Amino acid sequence: MADTQSLQNILRDEQRLPRVPEPGVVVIFGASGDLTARKLVPALYDLAAQRRLPLEFAVVGISRTEMSNEEFRGKLRRALEEHRSGEVSGDVWESFAGGIFYLPGDSKKAETYKGLKELLKRLDSERGTQGNRAFYLSSSPSLFPAIVENLGEAGLSEGEDGGWSRLVVEKPFGRDLESAQELNAELQRYFDETQIYRIDHYLGKETVQNILALRFANGIFEPVWNQHYVDHVQITVAEDIGVGTRGAFYEEAGALRDIVQNHVMQVLCLTAMEPPVAFDAESVREEKVKVLRAVRPIPEGEVEDYAVRGQYERGWVFGEEVPGYREEENVDPESVTETYVALKVFIDNYRWARVPFYIRAGKRLPKKATEVAIQFHASPHTPFARDDTKGLAPNVLVVRVQPEEGLSLKIGAKVPGTGFEVSSVNMDLLYGTAFLEEAPDAYQRLLLDLMLGDPTLFIRADEAEGSWKILDPVMRHWSQKPEVSFYQAGTWGPEEADDLLERDGREWRRP
Ligand code: BG6
Repeated sequence: MADTQSLQNILRDEQRLPRVPEPGVVVIFGASGDLTARKLVPALYDLAAQRRLPLEFAVVGISRTEMSNEEFRGKLRRALEEHRSGEVSGDVWESFAGGIFYLPGDSKKAETYKGLKELLKRLDSERGTQGNRAFYLSSSPSLFPAIVENLGEAGLSEGEDGGWSRLVVEKPFGRDLESAQELNAELQRYFDETQIYRIDHYLGKETVQNILALRFANGIFEPVWNQHYVDHVQITVAEDIGVGTRGAFYEEAGALRDIVQNHVMQVLCLTAMEPPVAFDAESVREEKVKVLRAVRPIPEGEVEDYAVRGQYERGWVFGEEVPGYREEENVDPESVTETYVALKVFIDNYRWARVPFYIRAGKRLPKKATEVAIQFHASPHTPFARDDTKGLAPNVLVVRVQPEEGLSLKIGAKVPGTGFEVSSVNMDLLYGTAFLEEAPDAYQRLLLDLMLGDPTLFIRADEAEGSWKILDPVMRHWSQKPEVSFYQAGTWGPEEADDLLERDGREWRRP
């Protein structure tokens, strides 16, 4: 018994040992942009600090701004101080910064890639990066096709001397089904699908992955995870922030493209998918794509029965007065871009027949809260007096993705006393108190998986297209009818979103 126990402990410890990838270089296009400073470099620095990166590692930043290696390193160091909590260790930074290089250049011009190829060769011999390269497209999406073509023409879509070459594509992945298909075709002209890593940072979030752990590591949830027991599902991605300085980007995107097409659809897939046979890229992604295929198309003539778009007006968030969307910088004062979306979708398969999935995502709502709530059917018969059950609501299982990461289950319980009053109470689990380990940032996890060559938490071509296919009729209808419903900043969205559920005899949760 003791031996079995210690063997299990050894196995567990081994599984927890840091996975260290092979040597390699991460080349970032759009290196002077926000994502590099706020997310990518802090994540790589943290991986370096945890010794999860090989010593033979380098980062190459490319953008048009003229800068030396030293200037680029200084800029990243300042960004680290600004965007990362905790102190930057001088020693870790020195060794990490020694592997950071900068190449000024126009990513549309072939000569940039000649320079890049030379630099990468030099790094192979000077830093031992062994011909392995990951190209990270974090530039303006309009440049993606040109970058990929140039990489391909320069022979960079293959690693050097038997090494690997991978391509990471940031969102937005197209603007609709047609443009996503075109982009996939362009990428696949030069890179094989197995080399392409479409990133959605929600998949790197621990609590999003935990939807899978909850469902498939426990015996008690799967039997009730279907239309026999579930009344409906609510997926919420609420943000208290507005569009800030991203007005120009947001005018083109809107909440449907910015959040729903990617993050929300991924959460929907993980919530609704069938158990995969293994936790590997093909098994997991195959099951996710089946969910997207099963989503009932929204008829173009009936979009208003299924979708609501809203825009925030001036209001109050956390006691502070905030401007309306139309007053934000770089936003058209007559804009009808949506900062809020509510949708009702059905998944026409055996498991989910007739179960509505209500989805909402919005900016300038009262708080930041991402959650999946599974609401079960009410008890078919309560033997208690009607007056005694006034405080009783159906069971709800909530996966809190952020903040206060955890789970809660709403159950009926007897109110202490000599009568038999029953009321709903919450059983809560906070991950922060259940585990001592701190959860890694989503980009840390995804960058590590990229270097390890594990695409399980990245999006496959057919997933990206499947998700656009669901939303295309809504976008087409909205573009023909440029109107939007308003909501005051700091409230839970427009009235029309409440009506969407009220028509079905239901109401939104208040996270
Ligand atoms: C990004 C969107 O993809 O996700 C932003 O472009 C949004 O508009 C952000 O604010 C939300 O991410 P998170 O991790 O803060 O929930």
